[in-house]
Amino acid sequence: MAEETHVLDRPPPGAAADWTVPQDWERFTPEEHATWDTLFARQAKLLPGRASNAWLRGLDVLHLDRPGIPRYEELNERLMKLTGWQVIAVPGLVPDDVFFDHMANRRFVAGNFIRRPDQLDYLEEPDVFHDVFGHVPMLADPVFGDYLAAYGRGGQRALGLDALKYLGRLYWYTVEFGLIAEPEGMRIYGSGIVSSYAESRFALDDPSPNRIAFDIARVMRTEYRIDDFQQNYFVIPSFDELLRQTVETDFAPLYEMLKEQPDIPVAAIEPEDVVLTQGTQDYARGRAA
Ligand code: PHE
Ligand code: FE
Repeated sequence: MAEETHVLDRPPPGAAADWTVPQDWERFTPEEHATWDTLFARQAKLLPGRASNAWLRGLDVLHLDRPGIPRYEELNERLMKLTGWQVIAVPGLVPDDVFFDHMANRRFVAGNFIRRPDQLDYLEEPDVFHDVFGHVPMLADPVFGDYLAAYGRGGQRALGLDALKYLGRLYWYTVEFGLIAEPEGMRIYGSGIVSSYAESRFALDDPSPNRIAFDIARVMRTEYRIDDFQQNYFVIPSFDELLRQTVETDFAPLYEMLKEQPDIPVAAIEPEDVVLTQGTQDYARGRAA
């Protein structure tokens, strides 16, 4: 899910110099395929009317509804034709420069294991269900695909500007936990939400969190929690707008400005915010009590 913590600093045995490993699809057991099917069935029921049109379309055009953990080779044939993206397997979290290099070149790094049956609801490291079910449908969307590749190049730049903290928040609040205002209503496109049974209801239906209009600088100042539901979600007007604003803004002066400003706590509302739904914060209060 997140790309900011790293366990290893060189490719482990069996991995190539660029950290990739063969998916080795044959090694998955019937129980592991069944775990995928269980997770898939429960999310697929929940997401029509909740997930963005782009995500739903991606699921469909990539034939992700076939039983079992998808074979990357098959998936990549379709994906390559649609947007030039590929999914590649890596042994775990990889260093930032490796992550960004793959992303800038339209290679999405994905976990190579699936969670255990007792971890259906929560998992600390991204597994194949989060990475493939959550992220890959969005890679079939041409505009979002361009955004993610631009993000990879932005990451390479941010490394040199000592600004990963800010760029990482942009990833968190768009790619992982983003909402979009569609003509039919608010929808989910963030992969961390889409792959979570509980958060895919909480993010849209619960009265607790704030839902705030997306603003690059605002998002980059905002702290986030990796171990619980978000308390602020940011809503983009369209993928075209997300792409346009992020590509047209030179982040270097923005980073310099942000380094002078305080971070914004997770549930806070700022005077300049365009608040689409103001949350009760009941959920967060309940957890603190
Ligand atoms: N415009 C960003 C920069 O100047 C690059 C970027 C584009 C980052 C799109 C994220 C998404 O660094
Ligand atoms: Fe993720």
